Amino acid sequence: MQTASCAPASRLLARRLDELAGVTDEPGKLTRTFLSPAMRQANALVGKWMRAAGLAVREDALGNLIGRAEGPGPGSPTLLLGSHLDTVRDAGRFDGALGVLLPIVALDELRRRGVTLPYAVEVLGFSEEEGVRFSSAYLGSKGYAGKLRASDLARRDANGITVGEAIKGHGGLRAQAKRGTGFQPVLSTNTGKGARATSHPSPLLGYFEVHIEQGPVLEAEKLAVGVVSAIAGQTRGRLTFRGRAGHAGTTPMQLRRDALAGAAELILFAEELARRRPPLVATVGSLAVAPGVPNVIPGEVVLSLDVRHPRDAARRAALRRLLAQARAIARRRKLGCAWQVTQDDGAVACAPRLATVLIRSVRAVQGRSLRLPSGAGHDAIVMAGLAPVAMLFVRCRGGLSHHPDEFASRADLEVALRVTLDFLERLGAGALRP
Ligand code: GLV
Ligand code: MN
Ligand code: MN
Repeated sequence: MQTASCAPASRLLARRLDELAGVTDEPGKLTRTFLSPAMRQANALVGKWMRAAGLAVREDALGNLIGRAEGPGPGSPTLLLGSHLDTVRDAGRFDGALGVLLPIVALDELRRRGVTLPYAVEVLGFSEEEGVRFSSAYLGSKGYAGKLRASDLARRDANGITVGEAIKGHGGLRAQAKRGTGFQPVLSTNTGKGARATSHPSPLLGYFEVHIEQGPVLEAEKLAVGVVSAIAGQTRGRLTFRGRAGHAGTTPMQLRRDALAGAAELILFAEELARRRPPLVATVGSLAVAPGVPNVIPGEVVLSLDVRHPRDAARRAALRRLLAQARAIARRRKLGCAWQVTQDDGAVACAPRLATVLIRSVRAVQGRSLRLPSGAGHDAIVMAGLAPVAMLFVRCRGGLSHHPDEFASRADLEVALRVTLDFLERLGAGALRP
């Protein structure tokens, strides 16, 4: 197996991560959102790197970038490798991008070494994972996997544009209709009623995602990489408190129905609840206050709520508790209160057989292999409905992510590359055969 050094390839990977980080919708910070101009540029740049690695490149209706190398025969199984190319606002350069660029470099490295794989590979750069533009994550991988629902297409961004309209504007549907080939189930599976199961045209070996850990465990364990055991489930939604706006100078305190004061109570309650129930996490990440001026009592507040736990039952129980509290606050303060779910994904376990192969690769390269759960969401959650999934985490400095200082060292990238090469070859040598 390929445990040899691949320093030049890891340097190339680090350079490409830097170059891609310069492709942004917001000057001075890294931001790429679903179907934005920067996402088009990113697809063009990454598509060029895919072609240089010998992959045939296409884009599907959702703006997912797909690079494919065929296997030795028409019936060859396919291994999917990928992650997302969109980012949060003012993001780090590794979240998502690493899982797309690393497989491209790895496949190029195998080619350079004269290794041919006995299966097809498809590198996937998903167009939407973070949920920034439409407050709902995984639009890209859901589209790829045929899991988009009519309700997903009807979601509106801050400018009132729906997902469906954004796709049309992007030209994805026309491009798909013209090409008419490949695995592009977005429209074919969207019956208007909901998602139906989709199968890939070729048998799938699995889906493999390399991702920065976004947490402190590997750093504490002094390990460059680790194998993900499971991904926590998450529920996101919008909670609206409706009170009554009024004059800030003349309305006595006891006559006010201040929506923001109610929201503030709920925010602190959510923090306290999660503190008392680890590993529960609950976050209010955005707040829209109307009318939002200093001399008017806030009449309406819409806040985002993100609740996660590795156990689905615990996540649901926490959410019920939070919503009960929101209603109690609203009653006491004479506010209206409404909850709208924008995303609800159960926890996903990584596939044991793929994980076993990946653990062998990690041991071959790093000596010790550690399994760890993921608190962050990943495209692997969605892809688990299509194929067995495996994830490799790469240590990140200070556990910091969703921040411009997010960092993985070149040495750790090299370890991740070597593990990936070993994993690809082990699969090629029949490691999954019974
Ligand atoms: C994605 O990064 C998420 O877990 O929010
Ligand atoms: Mn992220
Ligand atoms: Mn990510």
